[in-house]
Amino acid sequence: EEDLKFVGAADTDYAVVEERKVADEAFRSVRREFGKTYLPLINGEYVSTQESVDSVNPSNFSEVIGKVGLISVEQAQEAMQAAQAAFPGWRKTPAKQRAGVLRKAAELMEQRRAEFSAWIVLEVGKPVKEADAEVSEAIDFCRYYADEMERLDLGVIYDVAGETNRYIYQPRGIAVVISPWNFPLAIACGMTVAALVTGNCTLLKPAETSSVIAAKFTEVLVEAGIPKGVFQYVPGKGSQVGAYLVNHPDTHVIAFTGSQEVGCRIFAEAATLKPGQRHMKRVIAEMGGKNAIIIDESADLDQAVIGVVQSAFGYSGQKCSACSRAIVVEPIYDAFVRRLVEATKSLNIGEAELPSTQVGPVIDANARDRILEYIEKGKAEAQLALELPAPEQGYFIGPVIFSEVPPNGIIAQQEIFGPVLAVTKVKDFAEALAVANGTNYALTGGLYSRTPSHIQQAQEEFEVGNLYINRTITGAIVARQPFGGFKLSGVGSKAGGPDYLLQFLEPRTVTENI
Ligand code: SER
Repeated sequence: EEDLKFVGAADTDYAVVEERKVADEAFRSVRREFGKTYLPLINGEYVSTQESVDSVNPSNFSEVIGKVGLISVEQAQEAMQAAQAAFPGWRKTPAKQRAGVLRKAAELMEQRRAEFSAWIVLEVGKPVKEADAEVSEAIDFCRYYADEMERLDLGVIYDVAGETNRYIYQPRGIAVVISPWNFPLAIACGMTVAALVTGNCTLLKPAETSSVIAAKFTEVLVEAGIPKGVFQYVPGKGSQVGAYLVNHPDTHVIAFTGSQEVGCRIFAEAATLKPGQRHMKRVIAEMGGKNAIIIDESADLDQAVIGVVQSAFGYSGQKCSACSRAIVVEPIYDAFVRRLVEATKSLNIGEAELPSTQVGPVIDANARDRILEYIEKGKAEAQLALELPAPEQGYFIGPVIFSEVPPNGIIAQQEIFGPVLAVTKVKDFAEALAVANGTNYALTGGLYSRTPSHIQQAQEEFEVGNLYINRTITGAIVARQPFGGFKLSGVGSKAGGPDYLLQFLEPRTVTENI
């Protein structure tokens, strides 16, 4: 029997001296490339631009890691025309061949794994191990969506006597991908290759603060043989270029990951029929979270403390999956908070590049200031249990823990996207679930418990797209934990799962009387 289980790429083992040497050398060679200019790719050509932006190292913002050309609206228009011109050829390209481009891209990223990790660490301040896991995730998206497209390409046959019935999929047309900076490779890659393998011509507009990694990913797709016009790299201002592409009458699919505010705006704009538009647009939006971990009185506290610390402060809380609320039942509340504070104090805060770093910087000055404002709001509505000092040359914020946070408090309701954890006391498990469900979001959630009835009840009633029991709530793996939320966290699509590609496809039925 054929083994159908998907096997993901293996992460680097930094305990192995040789692998550490490769990683160190990658940092040196990436640093030698600092300050280079990266240009947009339009219709197969790297084009110069009027405007550009510096991408800096958040761990040390005096380091410019690269300059990125930003396209104008006129150039966005050229890119749309190129995509339209390329579409007839790409939609006719056999699915196997399209999948082949993804597999080649995966292989190239595997070869350049250490270099890609280093770019992630230096451009967005993600600690080394997490950056390495992100490269694995990008590779996995390529291979998994390649397999998935080949599965879907078989279609469904519903033949009966005298009649054939074929259920088949075709691409939608032009896809616009608007990607976030926090998973600058994995999420940009995942959304892009899903759009491409399904036969859509795809424009990638990355977040400004992660445009260099997106440029590196562009190099990979070009080397993997993506035809001109089929994939285009279009860094630009969200308010101009992003809005232009979303509103364009020839855009068919918009795949977005980012804030709820921007996601809602994209939905509204995409819903308005524009002159000349002959279809409704499909929006795939992955938005925020206000994710909770519930700790009940039967929990293994050692495990719970570690799980909450990692989920809350990994990548400084800058994951949509991060834990930003711990909901703890009264009998163990004091003990849990005490141990949580102690464990958090032992985290190493520093430059993302250092192997010992567990908590690096936040992405930029805006993020730092916004998070600091939330910390001030928290001080007004809850008890400050811990505020750790942080280095000054980068955009650092030391982890902060608030206790006695009221369930409807600002810091218990709004997504902060930083290393700030709100701990709330509840009287029992029923109240814990009610508090956990009492936000606009439904992305990830966790439960630490050894009580089977609580585990069962959480499965049924905890309103989250990804529920994790007795483990951390971040780091979903492709084809193992398909990832995505509902309510105001997103449209319910699951990246790395069996339904994902369907969103980029138009199903058709062809019946022939024979
Ligand atoms: N997929 C990531 C995680 O699970 C978040 O985007 O952490």
